[in-house]
Amino acid sequence: MVCAVGNRKCYLSNHYIYNNFSRSCVSTTITNIYKLFMADKIQIFDTTLRDGEQVPGCKLNTAQKLELAIALENLGVDVIEAGFPISSPGDFLSVYKISETIKNSVVCALSRSVEKDIITAADSLKPAKYPRIHTGIGTSEMHIRYKFNTTQDKIIERAVAAVKLAKSFVEDVEFYAEDAGRTDNEYLAKVCSEVVKAGATVLNIPDTTGYCLPDEYGDKMKYLKEHVNDIHKAVLSSHCHNDLGLATANSIAAIRNGARQIECTINGLGERAGNTSLEEVVMIIKQRKNLNFETRIQSQLLTEMSHLIADRMGIQVQPNKAIVGANAFAHSSGIHQDGVIKHRENYEIIDPQEVGVNESSIILTARSGRAALAYRYRHLDIELGKDQLDILYKNFLEMADNKKEINSDDLLKLYEEHIAKKQKAMV
Ligand code: KIV
Ligand code: ZN
Repeated sequence: MVCAVGNRKCYLSNHYIYNNFSRSCVSTTITNIYKLFMADKIQIFDTTLRDGEQVPGCKLNTAQKLELAIALENLGVDVIEAGFPISSPGDFLSVYKISETIKNSVVCALSRSVEKDIITAADSLKPAKYPRIHTGIGTSEMHIRYKFNTTQDKIIERAVAAVKLAKSFVEDVEFYAEDAGRTDNEYLAKVCSEVVKAGATVLNIPDTTGYCLPDEYGDKMKYLKEHVNDIHKAVLSSHCHNDLGLATANSIAAIRNGARQIECTINGLGERAGNTSLEEVVMIIKQRKNLNFETRIQSQLLTEMSHLIADRMGIQVQPNKAIVGANAFAHSSGIHQDGVIKHRENYEIIDPQEVGVNESSIILTARSGRAALAYRYRHLDIELGKDQLDILYKNFLEMADNKKEINSDDLLKLYEEHIAKKQKAMV
């Protein structure tokens, strides 16, 4: 008796296994048990050098783009979207240089569904070890009517022609259905089926305007998984913008519903309110093991990478930004400080070292308590007795009411004044 591959009974029911023993059943069982415990791989597609670089003021030169591409490769990014080569000779050169250098990530170049764009993208990728052309067109009613002034059928024709042309240059072709977030699912599935038939290996479903809610975006992925012909031949990809602050939530909803690639940027940079932030999705996947996903990202490099991008692109990260903001591991209220000093996990869900931060910081302000003050003095190798702590805490509060933050120099000054007073009292 031969059991059917994928039969749930085959790996979930001992009764079935023992009573219907056969070699093929046993090997299928082992494979399926293995699959049950193995996490699904999520490809991280970084578009900092393309969608991120479109931000006003973020323009990079070729040397800077190359430097950042190498850093992204070291970080473990699966795909680096290096640029939009038709947009300028400088961007063409950047993609070409990145293609020459990068050996462990796919190098991707953007194009519209326009012949000269695709040919230029292909030329810029010539030296790449793993080249990918990213081509596409708007599919929402809004784009079809007001951007292209055409029909749904004509859009499909252009999409298919673009994919076929890209496919004549490279094997790996990603198709984007621009404004997919506002595209009717039935039509979107039709477009996707046609481009998969034409050879697309990745289907990018951008929420270009950041309009979708997480359940809507997740349902869209599920619908496509169930309705696109030969969907097993392509990887579904999420590409979310943050206009309503939902880009990260939408990307997670996407992978929970069948997407296996997330398009994102360091520090969440990107058009308008930005794109999905790479560090956020990576750490969600890492922290929430129950999701059963994994990425190749070396998370200990995230903080360094964030600083590098902020520096080269000239856009500072907001202090309260998740994962990489200056305050992401800083505690300032007395209640939290006391809790975190007793046991870090009382108030932290991520070990700071996992993202390359040495340790959490205890910031001293007028809202801090005795525990925090004693902790900071201990870091300066000063152990305070109870009476000393009481006196220094009083002096500290006086100073803190007049100053936003008390630093180590201030603490030393307070301590020296206290010792001097004590000595004076003794003579
Ligand atoms: O947001 C978007 O739709 C895009 C596409 C060009 C992929 O960035
Ligand atoms: Zn975008």
